[in-house]
Amino acid sequence: MAFLTLDQADLPGKRALVRVDFNVPMEAGKVTDDTRLRAAIPTVEKLRKGGAKVILLAHFDRPKGKVVPSMSLEPIVAPLAKVLGVAVGFAHDCIGPKARAAVAAMLPGYVLLLENVRFHAGEEANDRKFADALAANGDLYVNDAFSAAHRAHASTEALAHRLPAYAGEQMRLELDALDRALGHPERPVMGIVGGSKVSTKLDLLRHLVTKLDKLAIGGGMANTFLYAQGHDVGASYCEKELAETARDVIRLAGQNNCKLFLPLDIVVAEKLAPGAPARVRDVGSIDEDERILDAGPETVERLCRAMANSKTLIWNGPLGVFEMPPFDRGTMEAARYAAKLVSDGKLVAVAGGGDTVAALNAAAVASDFTFVSTAGGAFLEWMEGKTLPGVAALSR
Ligand code: 3PG
Repeated sequence: MAFLTLDQADLPGKRALVRVDFNVPMEAGKVTDDTRLRAAIPTVEKLRKGGAKVILLAHFDRPKGKVVPSMSLEPIVAPLAKVLGVAVGFAHDCIGPKARAAVAAMLPGYVLLLENVRFHAGEEANDRKFADALAANGDLYVNDAFSAAHRAHASTEALAHRLPAYAGEQMRLELDALDRALGHPERPVMGIVGGSKVSTKLDLLRHLVTKLDKLAIGGGMANTFLYAQGHDVGASYCEKELAETARDVIRLAGQNNCKLFLPLDIVVAEKLAPGAPARVRDVGSIDEDERILDAGPETVERLCRAMANSKTLIWNGPLGVFEMPPFDRGTMEAARYAAKLVSDGKLVAVAGGGDTVAALNAAAVASDFTFVSTAGGAFLEWMEGKTLPGVAALSR
């Protein structure tokens, strides 16, 4: 997809409206993970160096078109200023007189954060008038929020049609990485999809088996596949009503020459508790009060061998209950092995989507992966082969 980048923009003195994703985890008013703030650095720096005025648009949480004080972006200002190493101004509204006055007071190189765009109902409605009101404060538009690009909202979609529109640096990096992983990957290309629910990842699995050479299914969702193949899953989490759907995915994989990797052995325990006594069993041999909580060593070893024989890996979702040792072992070992292959120059590994990033951080290998997406839902929708409205709106 062709889009304009900041290298093609005329920046000096221009008001750049930049859509970022500052929907960061917060506890008691403090940012607990600033990854998404740091992701904004390259674009902000480039715009400042180019002499533009940087006006940041973002959402936080889901206030549903109303002013909800606990969802203000104001607590982001201080941590953002720290991360960027420059002063950051704040306007208590993203449109209207407050925003206008704050923008009018800016000099080239200044950075201003506007209040939560979702305080206005027009944002989620992708409303034209609201988009016009946002556009009134800018000369150009930059979308740097890949992770919000699955939303057709005014600041991610309509605004791109009102001003000269550019892909920011983080957006560009995300799109390049995803293209390397799934668009035009070096083959063989392998996927790892884990997590608990098959129901949330059906479209993803159906799409992936048409694109990948190999697909490993792990986590709670693998239980549904094991059950669909006639294996006993004891007291494990399992979406039994999706057994036929799982068999469909298996058939579709066969038709598309995508080799499926389901668990060979499993780690089971009677209860899910830290340090709970765990046993390794072959699939199918499980007591009725036991639950599958991780992939077994043979499964992980086979997965690592499959990675070693691949050129590209795309990873979404953990293989087990990675938050709770000893059930983290499968995910940790596979993640460390993938990271080593990347370090040795043997594999391009791209990961993304909610828990995946937390799991890679827990294994301390996130920085060793070729690319770790900042996106949750957008990464999944992109992996499903869907067009993301925020990306489509940038296309030229
Ligand atoms: C995210 O955190 O995935 C994005 O910021 C999108 O947020 P949303 O799911 O509330 O639209």
